[in-house]
Amino acid sequence: GVRTFSLTAQEGTTSFAPATDAGTATETWGFDGAYLGPTLRAERGEKVAVEVTNDLGETTSVHWHGMHLPAAMDGGPHQAVEPGGTWRPAWTIDQPAATLWYHPHPHGQTEEHVYRGLAGMFILDDDASRAADLPSTYGVDDVPVVVQDKVFDDDGQLELSDDGGEPGTLGGTVMTNGTVGAYQEVTTERVRLRLLNGSTARTYSLGFADRQLDLVATDGGLLDAPVRLDEVRLAPGERAEVVVEMAPGETTRLRSSEADLGGVAAPFAMGGNDAFDVLELRAADELAPSPEPAWGPSRHAAGDALHEQDASVTRTFDLDERTINGERMDMGRIDEVATAGATEIWEVRNTIPMPHSFHVHDVQFRVLTIDGEAPPPELAGPKDTVYLEPRRTYRLLMRFDDYTDDRLPYMYHCHMLLHEDEGMMGQFLVV
Ligand code: C2O
Ligand code: CU
Ligand code: CU
Repeated sequence: GVRTFSLTAQEGTTSFAPATDAGTATETWGFDGAYLGPTLRAERGEKVAVEVTNDLGETTSVHWHGMHLPAAMDGGPHQAVEPGGTWRPAWTIDQPAATLWYHPHPHGQTEEHVYRGLAGMFILDDDASRAADLPSTYGVDDVPVVVQDKVFDDDGQLELSDDGGEPGTLGGTVMTNGTVGAYQEVTTERVRLRLLNGSTARTYSLGFADRQLDLVATDGGLLDAPVRLDEVRLAPGERAEVVVEMAPGETTRLRSSEADLGGVAAPFAMGGNDAFDVLELRAADELAPSPEPAWGPSRHAAGDALHEQDASVTRTFDLDERTINGERMDMGRIDEVATAGATEIWEVRNTIPMPHSFHVHDVQFRVLTIDGEAPPPELAGPKDTVYLEPRRTYRLLMRFDDYTDDRLPYMYHCHMLLHEDEGMMGQFLVV
């Protein structure tokens, strides 16, 4: 069968009280609603078909971030949907279970479209994820947590800073799933939180003051074993799945504490160092038992594994303020051409004292080294987006599978969306 979805990008109004006065209607955009969009869900091997309708007054697109799919279905700047138009991508889910997401990608306008509210989660399931016995009742013990920051003007409307200052807009209000002061009633001993940094510029360090969390998955799927951490750092576009243990009757808070941004020069300290509450967890007086997560030797089918010795090509990417290898994005220029089936190493160098968030379409990569050292355990899982600390070199291992197109490219870019819109993006073909 085919799993069908329809998504309509539309305008609406949302109340963000208490960040705004009660009764203030903030103009927002959403998919099938006023703000954000529905969580889509599909199974490995399943065919999906989406009908995307644009009811906005301007051109947009919908990109499936983290999805392995043909370039024509990718939803990047080449798949623009005009006002009043409809786009019908279809593809087969062919990758491990993961927490992916979708958002617009119109050339030069991505920051604004995402900031106004166009984004949603796309969850993939498979046999390995079910066998792991993780909390999996959606909305009960398996909870989406879309973290975003906003600036409100005096009229309670969303404000996007347009002064071109680094690193883009940093809001003093942090909200979860579009709610300011969000909380979740917990009824089980364990809760799985699917964290998505859906902000345009801000990097978070998410954790609890009174307990650790178990990181079980990164952008592209489950880790080989859970990693116990105090907090998990997420740059724009990155995801993490964590499991938290709760005791009956207690309350605790997921918060963003002062993120260690990795030696960011003072002028670019990015207000990243504020602390915010993200989600309060309120446990009931009696909690249903949760199964002990069951970790097998490997969560991934052999076909998904990447091996460094298979790499036949190494490419280098130097990032400065707004360019990659000295170039700004040009939709008419192909920057790289990869061969289907080839395993490659991308050596990505952040040459400036300011961070970036590097994202590659179509693939999940593995971080081989950071400045020659093995990455920390939280970067050992499948990734499609990685925070680049200033002046460090990241070696990424990836393979371009089956889908070829000698005309339509995929993108790689900085996921700090002002950077992307100002040209920090390149295009690659898989042929
Ligand atoms: Cu999440 Cu090219 O984007
Ligand atoms: Cu993407
Ligand atoms: Cu950047």
